[in-house]
Amino acid sequence: MTGAHGESSGLARPDIIEQWLATLRRWGYEGVRTGAVGPVVADDLAAAGFVAVQDLALLSCDLTSQPAVPRDRAIVRVRTHSARRESLIAAALTVDSRSFGQGWALDRPALQEARAATRRAQLMVSLSDGGQPSGFVLAGATSGRGFVQRLAVDPDRRRTGTATRLLGQAHTWLAARGCSTSVVNTETSNTAALALYRSFGYAPLPYGLRVLERPLGDR
Ligand SMILES: CC(C)(COP(=O)(O)OP(=O)(O)OC[C@H]1O[C@@H](n2cnc3c(N)ncnc32)[C@H](O)[C@@H]1OP(=O)(O)O)[C@@H](O)C(=O)NCCC(=O)NCCS
Repeated sequence: MTGAHGESSGLARPDIIEQWLATLRRWGYEGVRTGAVGPVVADDLAAAGFVAVQDLALLSCDLTSQPAVPRDRAIVRVRTHSARRESLIAAALTVDSRSFGQGWALDRPALQEARAATRRAQLMVSLSDGGQPSGFVLAGATSGRGFVQRLAVDPDRRRTGTATRLLGQAHTWLAARGCSTSVVNTETSNTAALALYRSFGYAPLPYGLRVLERPLGDR
């Protein structure tokens, strides 16, 4: 459902949605979960039997007024040909799993999908004083628009400014790629993330997003 997170993006006709569900059933899936979708798509899917499982605030901030942050040696950019690439990706996935829990954590294909969702993307991993990975951010840029696709700090290392440093580096990376704005979404109940984003000047857009699910066994 490419583009389904737009404010007024609609979805295919109900019979097409039914075809998608039939295909997933044929492939052996027992249930389906959407990505984050906009309000019109959410209504279309609710009419097709989907139920909302996450309400997300969609926030945006102006990057042009933020000063560039100097490079932080304790935040490593994961490069295509780096020898540490595999271990840094594995570390980011571990932090993700410890942060979002079973059922919501990214696996490797999902991380790859998130990276491919924007024209350019950069995964950055923060290292603690002892050199252990402590958190990560995935930033993406498409046509002058920036996105913070994922951000997490290991539960044992929170509240020490790690996310603030990661976000500062992500914004600097986005601004250097010509992005004038950055957009992020987070659960409306995620007070920690909302306070963090507010401190960077993020403000809510007039609409939010939803993640919906539907079992597939009942038709
Ligand atoms: C949200 C998260 C990334 C914050 O990471 P962190 O490294 O602890 O954040 P920082 O130490 O940089 O905190 C910066 C500010 O954010 C806010 N904040 C962070 N954690 C908070 C909490 N538990 N409650 C309230 N405010 C919080 C505060 O304003 C804080 O500033 P302060 O410490 O001076 O009061 C982390 O809690 C996390 O990984 N959560 C799970 C995954 C997640 O929600 N990711 C982001 C949404 S998709």
